[in-house]
Amino acid sequence: MDIDFWLERWNSGRTGFHQDHINPYAAYFYGEKGPPLERRKDLKVFVPLCGKSKDLLWLAQNGYQVFGVECSDRAVKSFFEENALSYKHAEKGEYGLYQNDEQVALIEILQGDFFGLEPETLDDVTDIFDRASLVALPPGMRQDYVNKIDALQKPGTRTLLVTLNFDPAEMDGPPFSVTDEEVLDLYSENFTIDKLLSKNVIDEETGLKNRGLTALTESVFKLVKR
Ligand SMILES: C[S@@+](CC[C@H](N)C(=O)[O-])C[C@H]1O[C@@H](n2cnc3c(N)ncnc32)[C@H](O)[C@@H]1O
Repeated sequence: MDIDFWLERWNSGRTGFHQDHINPYAAYFYGEKGPPLERRKDLKVFVPLCGKSKDLLWLAQNGYQVFGVECSDRAVKSFFEENALSYKHAEKGEYGLYQNDEQVALIEILQGDFFGLEPETLDDVTDIFDRASLVALPPGMRQDYVNKIDALQKPGTRTLLVTLNFDPAEMDGPPFSVTDEEVLDLYSENFTIDKLLSKNVIDEETGLKNRGLTALTESVFKLVKR
């Protein structure tokens, strides 16, 4: 599941993973349960494999600095254009750097390969929101993804991680099922892990139900880098 796979998905409009609503866990844990508004300007949320997620905009509108990485320039431009945000574009090595013109808090998106990021790229990141990123990757890529994201972050960085659990025999990914046990295997060496909640979402996820799933659970974890 290399970058060409994803570019083809964006170019052919097969982006069923994109949600037009704000992720409810982002809204709850960074909103209602998050720090007071006046403290958020000092917090920078990294959204790996961000697509054109509306969560980027919500986080900025709710006071956080936002930083995403996404391989598809179509996705990145769509994010700014569909949300009527004017933006600047510059070349930064092998990446395109897109930044809004600050109608809301700063939103920066690096367009390029997550796996090529340098550690200093995330220097001022305090938080990471992972929805549909780890679960977008097949089993053979997940350890590399976790090694990379681990190497990029400083001790104390908090991650809100959303995973999906289903019977893999019922549907080919992406998204892929990632069990709670696998989350422990992948992260426990260098992170403290708190499972925040687990929810049966089969009736809400009609797209995945139509692809054959008969049961689907979402789990949300808080990880803190040690
Ligand atoms: C399943 S989508 C999820 C997007 C977003 N997190 C959301 O919630 O809508 C996965 C995204 O990761 C991007 N992607 C996949 N591999 C990547 C890589 N190596 N570097 C940067 N982006 C990548 C894809 O283009 C796609 O937009």
